[in-house]
Amino acid sequence: MDGKIMSNFIANQTVHEQYGGVVPELASRAHMQNIVPVVDRALFAANIAKNELLSIDAIAFTQAPGLIGSLLVGAQFAKSLALSLNKPLIGVHHMQAHVLANLIGDDPPSFPFLCLTVSGGHTQIVLAHTPLQLEVIGETIDDAAGEAFDKTAKLLGLPYPGGPLIDRYAKEGNPKAFSFAEPQVPELGFSFSGLKTSVLYFLQKQEPGFIEQHLNDLCASVQFTIVNILIKKLKKAVQQTGIKNICIAGGVSANSGLRKALQEAGVKYVWKTYIPAFQYCTDNAAMIAITAYYKYLDQQFVELDAGPSARAAW
Ligand code: KG4
Ligand code: ZN
Repeated sequence: MDGKIMSNFIANQTVHEQYGGVVPELASRAHMQNIVPVVDRALFAANIAKNELLSIDAIAFTQAPGLIGSLLVGAQFAKSLALSLNKPLIGVHHMQAHVLANLIGDDPPSFPFLCLTVSGGHTQIVLAHTPLQLEVIGETIDDAAGEAFDKTAKLLGLPYPGGPLIDRYAKEGNPKAFSFAEPQVPELGFSFSGLKTSVLYFLQKQEPGFIEQHLNDLCASVQFTIVNILIKKLKKAVQQTGIKNICIAGGVSANSGLRKALQEAGVKYVWKTYIPAFQYCTDNAAMIAITAYYKYLDQQFVELDAGPSARAAW
């Protein structure tokens, strides 16, 4: 155990696409089907044979937040494994793990750093004092950035999750083609629900066929607006804290517009910027493992009766 990732497998669930969003019941059923084969593959890739399982130091699982059915499947499996191997059990907070994904690799940020954590359920600016001391200094008052991507994508007739598709079409479009209202939220707060409404009203005024004709420009303009909102608040957070080590995390940090804008802001404002490798942006096991590594060093374990929680503060 030295903080190195030995394997990282992801089982994607395509069953939700036809419903336009994640169906919790189907998510937990698919999770139950996938979890044992995925662990099996991960052990194989890490070159750990079944009779070497006792060489593992600890078992970690996502304790909160998330869809409760899926969390229960993961928790129960991890607890059974910890019991049978007689190893300590570590409960990990999903959002903390997104932030600490930045510590994977050879050039991690030094502390303190700021992390813009943008996913399907959260939009936060986190001040990381140490790996285990994270402070949320700003967050959304309504929708998350990922929701803004997914909900506007839906208005444009794109399937769920629309974020990556907006990213793809935006590459061919003009970001200044259309302008959508940016919300005025004080301090380090974010708001994205107005953007969806603004796109809806705009589309309602157009002729039939408008979306098909202007899809690339619409995607580029929506992405430009979301990225602008995010970078402006990041700039404000730097001004308030004086911290210029800047990271991004969460599914939306896979967005090429945001990655480019952060790099440009880094050059312009002399920030030292960090962007996790693509596979560590969207939900993954490696981010849970790296967080568990730091919790293990600090001996932060949970009991075998630990339960997951759908919603949880840090
Ligand atoms: O972190 P994540 O995988 O899961 C949650 O914890 O929510 O984030 C998922 C979110 C979805 O809203 C998805 O549309 C968005 O991240 N996302 C993207 C991109 N890739 C994933 N949004 C914009 N551009 C992308 N390339
Ligand atoms: Zn996530």
